[in-house]
Amino acid sequence: MRHLMSPLDFTANELDRLFDLANDIERYPDKYAHACDGRILATCFYEPSTRTRLSFESAMTRLGGRVIGFSDAASSSASKGESVSDTIRIISCYADICAMRHPKEGAPMVAAEKSDIPVINAGDGGHQHPTQTLTDLLTIRSLKGSLGGFTIGLCGDLKFGRTVHSLINALVRYDDIRFVFISPEELRVPDYITEMLKANGIPYEEVIRLENVMPRLDLLYMTRVQKERFFNEEDYVRLKDFYILNSDKMALAKKDMLVLHPLPRVNEISVEVDSDPRAAYFRQAKYGVYVRMALILTLLEIQV
Ligand code: NCD
Repeated sequence: MRHLMSPLDFTANELDRLFDLANDIERYPDKYAHACDGRILATCFYEPSTRTRLSFESAMTRLGGRVIGFSDAASSSASKGESVSDTIRIISCYADICAMRHPKEGAPMVAAEKSDIPVINAGDGGHQHPTQTLTDLLTIRSLKGSLGGFTIGLCGDLKFGRTVHSLINALVRYDDIRFVFISPEELRVPDYITEMLKANGIPYEEVIRLENVMPRLDLLYMTRVQKERFFNEEDYVRLKDFYILNSDKMALAKKDMLVLHPLPRVNEISVEVDSDPRAAYFRQAKYGVYVRMALILTLLEIQV
């Protein structure tokens, strides 16, 4: 039985097969409409979410399966003091597969160790968010044609943004990728990530001003300042509008640069950018459903 804790749990070849399957689902959805008849997905969300939880629900429903779960720790027995290990033992009796989001780093891993069913990490604290990374990689592969040979700028909260940490980890495996980290001093990417890049000889630079690097980027990954992971409100207020991507800044970019964002957006992308053909973040959300459908089929070992 397989779980998904980190994007690196799959080899590059396995990821390619997963993305091929996701593209096939996109093209021929009817073929997969009953692939999960009689199967149940449990969504155990101890932290707020719109996209991740609903895209998992949409994915399982589009495969013909059913969904049970909770969307808030307060409405689960966690509020009575139940441990994640006990909860997953119970969920294993009720469902065939589980997607879990938790504010504590490593909680889905603890669950996986005690689980009789595949567990998917749907975001653990500031650590990892592998299914968002699968979404990001599928979007890049589908819209750019390949995973490699580009300069990617990651902008915003690079310290607390788990989607950023997961994506960098995953991209390291592909050829000829250059990273540009754009953040205020206080929200720089953690040292363990820059150490890992140095150890692998992967080029990166850290800058503060987005405008200066915009013309060189092939991809721009914007992120929200992670309010819930700040220790004080004052710092959040000072940093939250540090970057606002608008039409003036887009005018500096390449004609075929793509803007990605895991969403939700707050102020970091002005709505005027939404109509720019290079804005790919809403298309990205669609790819999130296809890739979660492919992931459910793969972990349940269902062949169509
Ligand atoms: C992200 C998350 O939860 O980390 N959202 C998502 O799952 N699409 C990004 C965020 O909350 O900023």
